[in-house]
Amino acid sequence: MPKAEGLSSLTIVRNAAELRAISDAARASGGVVGLVPTMGALHRGHLSLLQTARKDCGLLVASLFVNPTQFGDDEDFDSYPRDELHDIVLFERYGVDVVYLPSVGEIYPAGLTITVTVDGLTDGLCGASRPGHFDGVTTVVSKLFEQCRPNAAYFGEKDYQQLKVIERMAKDLKLDIQIVGLPIVRESDGLALSSRNSNLDPNERRMAPELYRTLSVIGGGEMRPDVGLADQCTWGRNKLLEAGFSSVDYFEIRDGATLELANSYRSGLRVFAAAWIGETRLIDNLSIDYLS
Ligand code: PAJ
Repeated sequence: MPKAEGLSSLTIVRNAAELRAISDAARASGGVVGLVPTMGALHRGHLSLLQTARKDCGLLVASLFVNPTQFGDDEDFDSYPRDELHDIVLFERYGVDVVYLPSVGEIYPAGLTITVTVDGLTDGLCGASRPGHFDGVTTVVSKLFEQCRPNAAYFGEKDYQQLKVIERMAKDLKLDIQIVGLPIVRESDGLALSSRNSNLDPNERRMAPELYRTLSVIGGGEMRPDVGLADQCTWGRNKLLEAGFSSVDYFEIRDGATLELANSYRSGLRVFAAAWIGETRLIDNLSIDYLS
């Protein structure tokens, strides 16, 4: 798709009315509007979303907003990595037309009474270990959708539960937005890229790929086929603790579409884990391909 007319380089927008005007104009002239929501501290995972969206869309909007409502009181909102200038340079390099940098007040005006909640899909996994997290995600993403009105929005499978929750929100609200999910981008040693990886010290960084390796043993079918799914998860959890992870929030095999816990082998399963190395929480997931 050609770039939107009239926008030769990056435009920085800080208020919703201006964003909506640009997006409305692009749609009125037949352009496809794509949105890539981010919290910044960009890495190759984010960039892969931008690359795909750039190919699909006439107007490419990326948002950068470290959303306070998706962090719990004891979580890392204050210390979340921030490098706005560096991010803007990358956005420009990857062909973004509009970077949306809203203030907290632009997303959450005083007196706002609405929270968007998706039930069911948010009960387990990160929903269980981070209470309220997904309400923050769905509320901010629905605000971004409303302010930008994209035709398509791009999310990574790195946050697989988030992707499923947003797909469900779009379906239940009958939003006319295509939700595009894209594969996890990894380091050469398998570690899934994450803004939080920069918090790992060299020792922790050496340990971190064990998360992917452990998931791969299960995802790749290396376990004996007679070992039940629950036992595989217990093995995975112990393996991480033995490797030096300080705790494991979950290590589970679930259905990749419904996220329901799986008790027996069938196609379409996925293995999910969240574990702590010191102060840093890492998440990852993998499809269990050999069963398909
Ligand atoms: P953030 O963590 O910045 O991630 C932005 C997008 O990049 C998400 O869709 C995430 O799944 C994707 N992403 C992150 N790491 C990736 C990787 N290694 N490979 C592929 N994609 C990856 O997720 C959020 O922000 C927020 O919750 C947000 C949706 C912006 C709402 O605040």
